[in-house]
Amino acid sequence: MCGIIGILGRDAVSDRLVEGLRRLEYRGYDSAGVCTVHDGLLDRRRAEGKLDNLAKKLLADPLPGAIGIAHTRWATHGAPTEDNAHPHATEQVALVHNGIIENFKPLREALQARGRVFTSQTDTEVVAHLVSEKVEAGVDPVEAVRTSLKEIHGAFALAILFREHPDLLIGARLGSPLVVGYGENETYLGSDALALAPLTQKIAYLDEGDWVVITRDKVQIFDKDDQPVERPVTLSGVTGALIDKGNYRHFMLKEIFEQPVVVAQTLQSYLRPLEEQVALPDRDFDFSKISRVTIVACGTSFYAGMVAKYWFEQFARMPVDIDVASEFRYRAPVLDPGGLALFISQSGETADTLAALRHARAEGQTIAVVVNVPTSSMAREADLLLPTYAGPEIGVASTKAFTCQLAVLAALAANLARAKGRLSPDAEREIVKHLAEAPAAMNAALSHDSEIEALAPLIAPARDVLYLGRGPDYPMALEGALKLKEISYIHAEGYAAGEMKHGPIALIDDNVPVIVIAPSGPLFEKTVSNMQEVQARGGKVVLISDAEGIALAGEGCMATIEMPKVHPLIAPLVYAVPVQLLAYHVAVVKGTDVDQPRNLAKSVTVE
Ligand code: F6R
Repeated sequence: MCGIIGILGRDAVSDRLVEGLRRLEYRGYDSAGVCTVHDGLLDRRRAEGKLDNLAKKLLADPLPGAIGIAHTRWATHGAPTEDNAHPHATEQVALVHNGIIENFKPLREALQARGRVFTSQTDTEVVAHLVSEKVEAGVDPVEAVRTSLKEIHGAFALAILFREHPDLLIGARLGSPLVVGYGENETYLGSDALALAPLTQKIAYLDEGDWVVITRDKVQIFDKDDQPVERPVTLSGVTGALIDKGNYRHFMLKEIFEQPVVVAQTLQSYLRPLEEQVALPDRDFDFSKISRVTIVACGTSFYAGMVAKYWFEQFARMPVDIDVASEFRYRAPVLDPGGLALFISQSGETADTLAALRHARAEGQTIAVVVNVPTSSMAREADLLLPTYAGPEIGVASTKAFTCQLAVLAALAANLARAKGRLSPDAEREIVKHLAEAPAAMNAALSHDSEIEALAPLIAPARDVLYLGRGPDYPMALEGALKLKEISYIHAEGYAAGEMKHGPIALIDDNVPVIVIAPSGPLFEKTVSNMQEVQARGGKVVLISDAEGIALAGEGCMATIEMPKVHPLIAPLVYAVPVQLLAYHVAVVKGTDVDQPRNLAKSVTVE
């Protein structure tokens, strides 16, 4: 993962580099560092932990220089210590890196055999030595980078500085994103347009294998074959203002409460309420020839895909495969010609999902992407782009992006069904009506915040928590468990309710809270039977249901959380709210870092 930024500027750059890192902290926050060139020196400041530690160091010991690079790290190779923090430097060269150098071991051994001394455990440091070795031997820096890039395998976005060339910044990318920003007599490099937003909106996206040489008078981009190329300069449209928490204690809570608005915003682009029809932003896309859908995603986005599988099968009667992106490529999936491969991602940069997308394209699939970041790699590589309009999601645990994904996927299911001749105008009218009701129902769900807050101290001491659901509520159980474990660090598992008796029921005792997600409806009775099996063994149940469900089965539960009565189609959007709020309040009781939980990063750009 990691975020990188570089500036070839007119005046001091270090404050602006740190400001850029603040926008990149979602990519990792284990350590951070800055390097500039000034007075014939490569001068670095690095600090373990959050960016504020680096900012404090810079305050005490400022860094002059009109050219610089900076990095915020999510550790892959080597612990998150100051020695392993980027930039990595030799006497002649300093660089920052996002990605993984897969052949770093043989390279490091060879460099060490030639007498090079390493000061970190990172994979990155080999690149600094490879380039430096050549520069020290008198090779021109541009040629040194060009030839070094041929020696490294893996994924990288790099920004490189040279001690003896204070007007030269070189960038390169393969597998990890890198953009070039054009300012007034200044040029920038960044992991994304967001990092550069206060500096410029004029952005060129580098292609795979591109590298770029930035000097005072020229920006020259080369492709993977080292041929000079032009990459279009676009206006990013990303605002320079840092998003703030408003009156909320955490971004996560703010984002949970934003859901009715952003889901409504997203649905606006997918529903035509007057005509009582669903309509995708790309109205010309022909679904009639699609014979099969393969859904691929990671984490929370994968759970949105699991819900969509139920919908695509139910409404469109289409065969649907689903896989986590990190497994998809490696199991030789059989992809029929004429298939639609559907990728779901908040960031649009998740390395596993992006690699799976490229694999599916190579296998002749049509590529559809449900994505929240419109400038992301996935958005740019889609045949059918299905944007979510959740707005920037800052909390590491995904909330509003998830429910917006569900809204888009429900509309897509209806679209597929209509294209396949399986949706009558009446049925479509019903779907539009129910989807349009979702924001209000989510608002009603949010009104139970204080009850859920009151419940949190009872869940917080647990060592393990189980979540149960059936049908589309099964992925919601998985999502509830994921939310709880990632921000409260409590071990939690989601199970298909009916699967409990095949093993997991052995885990039940009176110390294990069991959260049962069971809206009244066709699957309710079956789920309640499984819930009773848990209660019979002393399990403490929290039942999340509507008034009807709670009246039927609430007795004997440790607690109940009442949701509005909704149509099963929108239940996943509504029931997402209490599981998010429960995880949030438990984490607050436990005092964890809700928005930046340990070991995680918002955008996972390594495989
Ligand atoms: C969980 C979470 C992660 C992401 C996953 C995929 O709260 O945020 O599980 O859902 O890393 O990320 P995207 O959606 O950006 O591809």
